[in-house]
Amino acid sequence: MKILGIDTSCDDTCAAVLEIRNSKLEILSNVVSSQVKLHAKYGGVYPSLAKREHIKNLPLVFRRATKNIDISKIELIGVTVGPGLEPCLWQGVNFAKDLAKKWEKPLIPINHIEAHILANWLSDSTFHILHSKFLFPAVCLVVSGGHTQLILTTGIEKYKLVGETRDDAAGECFDKAARTLGLDYPGGPAIAAEAAKLKTKNYKLKTKLPRPMIYQKNYDFSFSGLKTAVLYDFRSRSSKIRKSREYIRAMCAEIQQAIIDVLIHKTFKAAKNFKAKSIILGGGVAANDELRKQFKEKIQKEIPDTKYYVPDTKFCTDNAAMIAVTAYFHREEATKNWQKIKVNANLKI
Ligand code: KG4
Ligand code: ZN
Repeated sequence: MKILGIDTSCDDTCAAVLEIRNSKLEILSNVVSSQVKLHAKYGGVYPSLAKREHIKNLPLVFRRATKNIDISKIELIGVTVGPGLEPCLWQGVNFAKDLAKKWEKPLIPINHIEAHILANWLSDSTFHILHSKFLFPAVCLVVSGGHTQLILTTGIEKYKLVGETRDDAAGECFDKAARTLGLDYPGGPAIAAEAAKLKTKNYKLKTKLPRPMIYQKNYDFSFSGLKTAVLYDFRSRSSKIRKSREYIRAMCAEIQQAIIDVLIHKTFKAAKNFKAKSIILGGGVAANDELRKQFKEKIQKEIPDTKYYVPDTKFCTDNAAMIAVTAYFHREEATKNWQKIKVNANLKI
């Protein structure tokens, strides 16, 4: 079965085609058109600009994704209906509806958060892990620019939100802290790159940034205080220090570590309390090398029987292959009644 996926939930225009035959998955195309440069000057995504870009880019992205593919063989279309930016979501949904009408094929509404979790199956072409008796219950950490959520999963389609951020998402904190320090958007990769360049451990950054809510009993997060602490520290410095490479690098290392500490601590607490057989990561922030490494090391050391899954980095950030694979798992719900599909900017898992 060939499946087309479409995602326009934020600032990336994405289309992908998957083929799943005899329970084997092949990614035939996965096109992501990024609007990073456009939004860089705002330090974040500007919804009306993003919408305009989707209108312009989606037909091109779709053509590239289906270039060498017999579209008459596409049996199913999956499109993100939320959560995300409402004007952006509608672009993908309306485009997908037009295709469903023209091709007379079913359309499946997809939850972007669930897709970030199921992106883990894109690197497992045989769906082998799904049949592992060591998979569920699983604790999933979805960390992106818009979300930071801990989700308990007892099976595909069986999700329970156990904790989430009360204010900024982890990715948003990376993006805003980077803007304070004068680094590029998106802030996550920019901060990670600067942190990796910190050579001398002798540099004394006297600041220890907060690890918000780390020891609270719940599974919730809060990152806005961390973002503000970065701003206050930066403002307290002389202009010479603010411009010094060592200061920027040391701050980046500390910001990154503060975020990692909180994410790992809360995820471990949930994994232990819910007796999780696996920890599953997803979302743009899960592309962070240090986060991936520190999770792996701590799991090996403290809970070695717990399996650890994280998507290839290209499937952590927004893409439509993850939408198509999610549509596959929901294929039984396929409907030709696509007219009724609506977007929901605040869709919950
Ligand atoms: O999942 P995603 O592509 O879009 C949303 O659904 O939000 O996530 C984007 C977020 C941005 O905040 C970006 O700064 C962050 O993921 N990000 C990273 C890295 N790559 C992307 N954060 C930390 N380290 C990275 N390497
Ligand atoms: Zn996303």
